[in-house]
Amino acid sequence: MDFVRKDILGVEELTGAEIELILDTADSMKEISHRDIKKVPTLRGKTIVYFFHEPSTRTIASFEIAAKRLSADTVSISASTSSIVKGETLIDTSKNLEAMRPDVIVIRHQASGAPHMIAKRVRASVINAGDGMHAHPTQALLDMMTVREKKGTLSGLRIAIVGDIAHSRVARSNIIGFTKMGSSVVVAGPPTMIPTGIESMGAKVVYSIEDAARDADVIMMLRIQKERLGDFLFPSDREYANFFGLTHEAVSKARKDALIMHPGPINRGVEIPPEIADGPQSVILDQVENGVAVRMALLYLLIGGSRHASDN
Ligand code: CP
Repeated sequence: MDFVRKDILGVEELTGAEIELILDTADSMKEISHRDIKKVPTLRGKTIVYFFHEPSTRTIASFEIAAKRLSADTVSISASTSSIVKGETLIDTSKNLEAMRPDVIVIRHQASGAPHMIAKRVRASVINAGDGMHAHPTQALLDMMTVREKKGTLSGLRIAIVGDIAHSRVARSNIIGFTKMGSSVVVAGPPTMIPTGIESMGAKVVYSIEDAARDADVIMMLRIQKERLGDFLFPSDREYANFFGLTHEAVSKARKDALIMHPGPINRGVEIPPEIADGPQSVILDQVENGVAVRMALLYLLIGGSRHASDN
């Protein structure tokens, strides 16, 4: 199957077959990271620009490592050190970056829809590395890769997502992705952190962590997005931890081989205690490792595959 997309903006635009292709490609790419010499010439001569308007550790580092393992050249621009601080608009910045003829622009922005706006205006492929509360498609893909790797399938699983659903682009992308691939998704959190209409995305809503965890194959904990007004939606971190922090009792309601996941960064002692985050069921660092493989796969499929070849 050829992958003919120009951009990766959201999981909703991908078909189930395209998701399978991305995950299969990522499985192959993962082997490169286990070699002594972790580099192949696949994207030699290609240029990738990272344009991050919000902080990131995992996403930016894994894109950078992914690109370098495929021999692409990379440039990283942050909002705080770019000419955005001198008043340049996002569209002007994008057009100027485009004039330097990059092959891919990877963007993270606090405004929902910013990557979509840029994608319409540039020839380069655009990858959404997280836009506001809207979407984080590469996170959902690496989460699906991790679950498929551990469970052998994405079909028929029960995925519990717990925490600040309202402000989480990870929750939205995962609800769409996992339901598309045949899993059922249940979400739980304080009522102030459950957005109205989330059921229309295919998620079932419950209001206790035990109800969410019951018979779950995966328990995915989310951080409170304090940078998106989460501070005002519950009395204190302690109160939150008492009601929605993961406990051994909640884990015991899930299936015995349930995976404990978290997109990171984790707030230890708030949504997840250290002994569970670091415990035998946790696959949090597997998620991080698979982030490199998924981003290698996306870069390869966007600019190393058939669509790009037929453009030239
Ligand atoms: N999961 C995730 O997006 O982490 P970063 O914010 O560190 O990139």
